[in-house]
Amino acid sequence: MKKDHFISPRIIEAELAEAREIAEQLEKRGLTGDRAPGYYIQTFGCQQNEADSETLAGLAETMGYRRVLSPSDAKLILVNTCAIREHAEKRALSIIGEYKHVRENDPELIIGVGGCMVTQRSRADKFKTSYPYVSFTFDTGSIHSVPSLVKAAMEKKKRSFVIGDEYKISEGLPVSRSSGHSAWLSIMYGCNNFCSYCIVPYVRGRERSRLADDVVEDARRLVADGAKEITLLGQNVNSYGLDLEDQGGIASIMRRICEIEGDFRLKFMTSHPKDASDALIEAVASEDKIVKQFHLPVQSGSDDVLRRMNRKYTTEHYLGRIEKIKKACPDITLTTDIIVGFPGETDEDFRMTTDLLREVGYDMAFSFIYSPREGTPAAKMEEQIDKSVATSRLQKLIALQDEISVKRNSRFIGRTLRLLADEVSRTDENMLTGRGQPARPVHFAGDKSLIGRFADVEITSAGSYSIEGILKK
Ligand code: 5AD
Ligand code: SF4
Repeated sequence: MKKDHFISPRIIEAELAEAREIAEQLEKRGLTGDRAPGYYIQTFGCQQNEADSETLAGLAETMGYRRVLSPSDAKLILVNTCAIREHAEKRALSIIGEYKHVRENDPELIIGVGGCMVTQRSRADKFKTSYPYVSFTFDTGSIHSVPSLVKAAMEKKKRSFVIGDEYKISEGLPVSRSSGHSAWLSIMYGCNNFCSYCIVPYVRGRERSRLADDVVEDARRLVADGAKEITLLGQNVNSYGLDLEDQGGIASIMRRICEIEGDFRLKFMTSHPKDASDALIEAVASEDKIVKQFHLPVQSGSDDVLRRMNRKYTTEHYLGRIEKIKKACPDITLTTDIIVGFPGETDEDFRMTTDLLREVGYDMAFSFIYSPREGTPAAKMEEQIDKSVATSRLQKLIALQDEISVKRNSRFIGRTLRLLADEVSRTDENMLTGRGQPARPVHFAGDKSLIGRFADVEITSAGSYSIEGILKK
């Protein structure tokens, strides 16, 4: 095993000691319980960021802060940013801009900004010069350093802007989960693929896997704590274990988790089509605890575009994987990611993408307009596509996928599905949303007490975005 794969336990322990010291100082000042200072975390971006924010929450609680629901009630605001598209960065900047007024009312307020956006030097520099009320920024590899950053901000009034050049795994940090029944479980971090449009490899470092025993132990603990759904996370879970010896691959770790006793189910994301293995497909098809869902981002239906995206597969290979998945698991729910308006994408390339959408028949597609990311090869490519062309392609794609989704979702009508009652519906307090195999949440009438439990729901109607059902028992 690589010696420098993990952050030294000594460093982690030193940070946790800092965190406990902050808590002790607060306690001495009588600031505990209801009087404890508030922390507020604003998260942008993917599930990996949501998982990281649960660690930030764990650290904040170890420092003696208590969760509050509004930034104006907080003494510590942490923003976990995303850099995947320009829109995500703009939203983060605009929200952080609003915190200026909160800080004006409370000069003691500590504001820390972390995540993918500020792991880029130019963005961290911008915070240093143009956002004087931001106390510190920290890169994606430095979440464990937050206690010492908070302490420095508190005691020395020192501003810090951390960007290291290495990304290691930090084991043993406290986690405060936002849902009792649905848990994220990171199995690996980083990405080695360097798709030509993507910023992720530059802001999350190379692939590094956690030890299989640590992951399985975490899963065991989550189930014992009442988790009903565990989602394994990684930018490319198919590469799990390749950077270590003797850890097995993704299929083996999923099968080990399925052996844990208890009524729970398992999901995973994301798979790269170039190495979605037969072993993984067989595990999804055969293990009862694994939800029959496969998210396989295709990005484009044109081989020419895929080559320039550096995706390292052809549409023929991709469709071969889809065929294998459908054969192993005919009722599978398939989802994908698509980028339109990639540099040089012609009308013909786009037509190939819509053809592929029809051929596969996805349950749902996440489609995005290509957003140039500074420092990536695609940002320097000639033939950047006009925004209006890309927007019109996106609209066509969404309309087509809506048609396909209605057909796919309709296959559930009349069937009774076992769903995890997740939350009260945002539009009707007498309705719950349940999640399971359909790509979209299912709405059904039910009491709040069901939340966090499995419920049998008969599907009665299905549109492209919304599926409805009635509770059976
Ligand atoms: N522009 C638009 N979409 C992007 N994605 C990644 N990078 C970009 C970009 N520069 C999309 C891909 C990926 C998903 C998480 O985000 O489709 O699968
Ligand atoms: Fe980005 Fe490609 Fe890695 Fe996914 S596989 S995170 S799209 S570089």
